[in-house]
Amino acid sequence: MAFRSAKASPFCLLHGHEVFVLLALVLLSPIGSLEGLEVGSVDDGGNELFREILKDEAVFRINELGKVSDRDGYLERTFLSRAAIRATHLIISWMRDAGLRTWVDQMGNIHGRAEGVNASAPALLIGSHMDTVVDAGMYDGSLGIICAISALKVLKTNGKLGKLYRPVEVIAFSDEEGVRFQTTFLGSAAIAGILPPSALQVSDKSGLTVQDVLKKNSIEGTVDSLAKVKYDPESVWGYTEVHIEQGPVLETLDYPLGVVKGIAGQTRLKVTVSGSQGHAGTVPMLLRQDPMAASAELIVTLESLCKHPDKFLAYDQQCGRFTKESFAGLVCTVGELSCWPSASNVIPGQVNFTVDIRAVDDAARGVIVSELSKQIYEKCDNRMVNCTIELKHNAEGRHCDSELTSQLKDAAHSALRKLQADDYYDAGDMPILMSGAGHDAMAMAQLTKASMLFVRCRGGISHSPEEFVLDDDVWAAGLALLHFLDQHVDQQQLVDSPVES
Ligand code: GLV
Ligand code: MN
Ligand code: MN
Repeated sequence: MAFRSAKASPFCLLHGHEVFVLLALVLLSPIGSLEGLEVGSVDDGGNELFREILKDEAVFRINELGKVSDRDGYLERTFLSRAAIRATHLIISWMRDAGLRTWVDQMGNIHGRAEGVNASAPALLIGSHMDTVVDAGMYDGSLGIICAISALKVLKTNGKLGKLYRPVEVIAFSDEEGVRFQTTFLGSAAIAGILPPSALQVSDKSGLTVQDVLKKNSIEGTVDSLAKVKYDPESVWGYTEVHIEQGPVLETLDYPLGVVKGIAGQTRLKVTVSGSQGHAGTVPMLLRQDPMAASAELIVTLESLCKHPDKFLAYDQQCGRFTKESFAGLVCTVGELSCWPSASNVIPGQVNFTVDIRAVDDAARGVIVSELSKQIYEKCDNRMVNCTIELKHNAEGRHCDSELTSQLKDAAHSALRKLQADDYYDAGDMPILMSGAGHDAMAMAQLTKASMLFVRCRGGISHSPEEFVLDDDVWAAGLALLHFLDQHVDQQQLVDSPVES
């Protein structure tokens, strides 16, 4: 087992019928031998590492889903887009293959459920999102969905799926990134019952509302249908999510998995700056009301504010209870900017840009948002341009449930011990991380107790086609989830009706 230098096996990118075709080709070829090929079995000779399902097939599926895009040449899959519909069919087929009962809810979330021995017991939900950012990597979201399906497929294969003492449900959430509607968590917030009905009227860039898009997909998209998506908290036992770390900590610590202690809150704004559109060659510099130059100043102000909040805020007067530590994890980003009419010889008439502000401490984030707003209005006044600021998204930071996190930590540790025979990973060393990225777990934490498992990624890179997770780390995550699920198998049932061989 080489976690630090995973080498692809010949089966890594193959699956089902392809493996069959490859074997047929090998048998028909003049070489006619399996020599050099790695041949495994479902239980890997009793070691219970389930490599074929948790590694080879899972990696193959991550690659398959990574090809389902709305664009040629790069990955983009947004809420109920054409690619999202194709992805839905694929995910449903994998859920069915794992022995799960499937359905799509009124917000486009995909569900796959195993009832176990007590269908009315509160369910364990395991999920992540199927949408992506623009020019995305293929692990963000997909990794969590596929690891969950794979772990349940192992339970089906070893006869434990029907012996779960509570229902276990995998959910592929329809929208976490918020790319299409700038909303985030349309899917998980609806399930958690915290999505306001006004979200149905939010429009995408083409003017289509969430409701229009739902209707185009034969979903009612009404307040009543939205209410049907909500889960009763009494029917849910807990939530867990596997996710690519999207940062460099695990790689730096040389550890494949880590558990999450909490998720930073975030605010998203849309700023519109309107000035006086004009001729680039004729309007003297001192007579301009240029929204592009104003936006540049505002963006640099945001950067300075978030790099050095102490230079803007008088800690003792303005925000007496804040210290420098309150601003831990403060990060601010302008990720999207557009202008009208966008021509090289025209002073723009209007500029729009987005602002994304995150911090561990919600109150500190609030202070940054109000200081930024104050600075924006002052600077726009000075430049005689008009500014408006719209709040697009506001999510409070969330703490993960400590008991569930500790169960996940034990499961992750025992998975690593199994995979790494030499005790390289010590239980006490399992990293406990804070997440700066937003996750469906933030919404689900408002429905039930939530936990998250992070998986190491190369260079800490995410939201980029460069995103990469070692195949062995995908395996470790799947095995960790399997060990976590094992705690929900009714051991008595296994004794009473052992698996037939
Ligand atoms: C989701 O990936 C986010 O923007 O944090
Ligand atoms: Mn994600
Ligand atoms: Mn993401």
